[in-house]
Amino acid sequence: MLVIVMVNLKGGSGKTTSAAWILHALHESGLSVLGVDADPENESLIGWSQLAEWDVPVIAMPVANLHRQLPGVIAPSIDVVVIDTPPMTDSRRIVKSAAKLATHIVCPMAPTGMEYDRLGAVRELVTEISDDADVPPDFAVLFNRVIANAASTGVYREIIQTDGVRVLNPPIPRKEVYAQSYPQPIERASTSAYGDAVNDLLTPAVDESEATA
Ligand SMILES: Nc1ncnc2c1ncn2[C@@H]1O[C@H](COP(=O)(O)OP(=O)(O)OP(=O)(O)O)[C@@H](O)[C@H]1O
Ligand SMILES: [Mg+2]
Repeated sequence: MLVIVMVNLKGGSGKTTSAAWILHALHESGLSVLGVDADPENESLIGWSQLAEWDVPVIAMPVANLHRQLPGVIAPSIDVVVIDTPPMTDSRRIVKSAAKLATHIVCPMAPTGMEYDRLGAVRELVTEISDDADVPPDFAVLFNRVIANAASTGVYREIIQTDGVRVLNPPIPRKEVYAQSYPQPIERASTSAYGDAVNDLLTPAVDESEATA
């Protein structure tokens, strides 16, 4: 079973939107998925699922011992769990608990200087939990709210990759279809940029030294 956890230091970075679209992209591709809303303030993933009457199941579990509670309620038939978290600034303990369950941690962010400055705090959390984990999670940045053809996208991709952090392809464009998707049903997620980005996430990164060996 895979566990994909959305993480960012701040609110408004696209965690809930990304969790919702990734859940649907995986569901459309035939996987058995479960959404988990771990945000005690907004409860927007579960609210969205109820308002739009999603086929995809979502549960709310905004608790600081998520890593102990959640495994007990996941049916063995589930292939992928996607966890939406609160901003680390609000509830770092919940985010850290969710991250302890992760096979994959995704940080959605716009390619801007302000959002790049927040990435350090997320990397610290990933390092903390990786130090204690038997198998550390894969960590990747997902660019979102990206303006078409903006040079900044390539610039920040280069900077973040030079820092040693994976950046998923393709970026998620700034578009009304994403901005206005709450509280609507989500359709054709697997053929959207989110479908391609999650395929990239789940394709193990190729170690170039091995690839050329
Ligand atoms: N690709 C996109 N294009 C345009 N707008 C977007 C895109 N992705 C997200 N948004 C908008 O950005 C805002 C923040 O998104 P979202 O609620 O998903 O962030 P969040 O990180 O979950 O915030 P919070 O931590 O407060 O819950 C929303 O208004 C959403 O519609
Ligand atoms: Mg949210």
